[in-house]
Amino acid sequence: MILDGKAVAAALKADIAEQIKTLPERFGRVPHLVVILLGEDPASQVYVRNKGLAFEAAGFRSTTVVLPAETTEEALLARIRSLNEDESVDGILVQLPLPRHIDSATVIRTIAVGKDVDGFHPLNVAALWQKLPCIVPCTPKGMMKLLASAGIDPCGKHAVVIGRSNIVGLPVAKLLLDANATVTVCHTRTANLAEQTRRADILVVATGRPKTVTGDMVSDGVVVLDVGVNRDKEGKLCGDVDFDSVAPKASFITPVPGGVGPMTIACLMENTLECFLNRFRGQAPE
Ligand code: GUN
Repeated sequence: MILDGKAVAAALKADIAEQIKTLPERFGRVPHLVVILLGEDPASQVYVRNKGLAFEAAGFRSTTVVLPAETTEEALLARIRSLNEDESVDGILVQLPLPRHIDSATVIRTIAVGKDVDGFHPLNVAALWQKLPCIVPCTPKGMMKLLASAGIDPCGKHAVVIGRSNIVGLPVAKLLLDANATVTVCHTRTANLAEQTRRADILVVATGRPKTVTGDMVSDGVVVLDVGVNRDKEGKLCGDVDFDSVAPKASFITPVPGGVGPMTIACLMENTLECFLNRFRGQAPE
């Protein structure tokens, strides 16, 4: 069975769009997301453009700030501080990865925590790991919603996560743990990866490399969530999982494109709406 992220995301976006319609009369305006893109990485340009279009289609206000790749860290931080102070801005997203001369950790902690729609700020991360109210990173949040949409309950299951990034691997491991799965986190130094993946009831693959997981590495009935967005030799979009050999063994699997990706954007909308409402309710963290 295909886990159709496009369809689940469309339903979520439609629900959010309905809520957005009610906001001008309650709060005088709609939520406003500002996306900052540094440089001209083609993949990042596509992501940022898609975000802007999707947000406007759902009724949000969306601004994209494109800065030259050679922008200094200090200039970027100054721009972020001014958006932090700007009352008309509810969410700030700096597209990653950043050029090498900029320290992303410094950038992330400069974003006001109340406007951190990515959930990457150290205070949001700490809150997630302490089960306190927080903004949950979009991709992991979207994956949990996809599981729920198919009636898959992680409770008591063995979840194997390949990848330990702050954006995907670590937060999804925590969410699966909170959903009462037993979680194994694998990475580039894992000895005998196939031995781990064969023990998975739920397998999350976020390595950034095509064909990290092939059919011989999974057990029958596995649920596979593929976070990868790569281009194969023919320039076609593909995930981190070898779909053709894994899908016949899987009970559920996400396609690429149309799986995890659309859920990420829908969850970014949810997070932006949440930051907006927190600010108007005076509940935004300082
Ligand atoms: N680059 C790839 N994924 C993401 C994401 O979720 N947020 C940001 N800011 N940059 C990304």
